[in-house]
Amino acid sequence: MAVANTSSSSWSSTLLFAIVFLLLVNISVFCNGGKTSTFTRKPEKTEDMPLHSDVFVAPSGYNAPQQVHITQGDDEGKAVIVSWVTMNEPGKSVVHYWREGSPHKKMVAKGYLVTYRFFNYSSGFIHHCTLKDLQFDTKYYYEVGIGHTKRQFWFMTPPEIHPDVPYTFGLIGDLGQTYDSNKTLDHYESNPKKGQAVLFVGDLSYADNYPYHDNNRWDSWARFVERSVAYQPWIWTAGNHELDFAPEIGENEPHKPFTHRYPVPYKASGSTAPFWYSIKRASAHIIVLSSYSAYGKYTPQCEWLEAELPKVDRSKTPWLIVLVHSPWYNSYNYHYMEGETMRVMFEPWFVKYKVDVVFAGHVHAYERTERISNVVNGHCGAVKDQSAPVYITIGDGGNIEGIANNMMEPQPEYSAYREASFGHGIFEIKNRTHAHYSWHRNEDKFSVEADSMWFFNRHWHPLDDSTTTQHH
Ligand SMILES: [Fe+2]
Repeated sequence: MAVANTSSSSWSSTLLFAIVFLLLVNISVFCNGGKTSTFTRKPEKTEDMPLHSDVFVAPSGYNAPQQVHITQGDDEGKAVIVSWVTMNEPGKSVVHYWREGSPHKKMVAKGYLVTYRFFNYSSGFIHHCTLKDLQFDTKYYYEVGIGHTKRQFWFMTPPEIHPDVPYTFGLIGDLGQTYDSNKTLDHYESNPKKGQAVLFVGDLSYADNYPYHDNNRWDSWARFVERSVAYQPWIWTAGNHELDFAPEIGENEPHKPFTHRYPVPYKASGSTAPFWYSIKRASAHIIVLSSYSAYGKYTPQCEWLEAELPKVDRSKTPWLIVLVHSPWYNSYNYHYMEGETMRVMFEPWFVKYKVDVVFAGHVHAYERTERISNVVNGHCGAVKDQSAPVYITIGDGGNIEGIANNMMEPQPEYSAYREASFGHGIFEIKNRTHAHYSWHRNEDKFSVEADSMWFFNRHWHPLDDSTTTQHH
């Protein structure tokens, strides 16, 4: 009996040891992800601001230009597309503009206007006008409208393209027009880092959440964001809420409101459609892709990207940034694998051409990954890869659909930081080797960085820049 007892207790301690050992191995293998923030936002309801809210008020005066917005108008930053809407009559598609300090040297640019119908909605007169041959790094004033209803705005052109020129981009996604959207925009505008242009990762107005995609909500959204986008360019990415594909009400043409309202300079980069294109700005080469246009082999988008990537000249624009709506890596339980087919198509190129960072939206929360790839034949799963981009999901603008707060557990190893809060990001390029990235949650004071990372450029300084490394 005594022997048997000893043997039994020896067996059970061996078993206990084995269980503890397996648990430890298990933890180190599967639970070695990054940080899931313990911050929880107040569970307040996310709802759209009513149409009579002050942020939506139309400017006074008969036929006054409203919904003024600008975006880059060429491939290097010497042109700006100015857009606005007049509601009562066509007016003139003309912009008067002048350099700061030279009001006597007013220039004039002539544009064009478009209108469209969407089910029972008729748009106002939507004007687009490209100001060309601008000087770099210069403040311009511009005026739209005629007679008593002139409105004046201004913008700064970017510095000339140069590998070491600093430049600060804001990052906003899935904004919508709720009280939370307004907080996000406030925080971006008040951020002391002062973004100079916004990289917008798709899903603008969420008008399609209304019956018949009530396009009055496209108008109200454009009035809401005018306070920023009339003064600095927002670079547009198409999201699923830009599709407005509604055959049940006879609307068979995808992207109709979006393309009529938000022109982009796609032809300048050899693209054949406004959903995928590139621009160069300061020290960055920015590639915009479309999750909702065909991207399989032989499609126009795929052929364009294949030709585009070898054209990126890191000696002129060291920072290679990609914008796409649907994320390729996402550890929230939303939109599972929606980005997967595009990842399979394009990820090997992103690794080959050493993309620095990919920004996406769609998932209404925040997440930053390690540098990872999943491109090795016969191996399925993300592995750390210093040639791969960091993937940042920043679909946390605060739209009507609410926060995504259900996460995969345990946190996958590729996920460096995730948090179910609304906010915006700032990508601050310092020179050809370093950029500082920060994420700002709406509940914090304007200058607080809830998450941050020093990016080392993949071409000029390809050292390990993971935040775990930085912390040690
Ligand atoms: Fe989306």
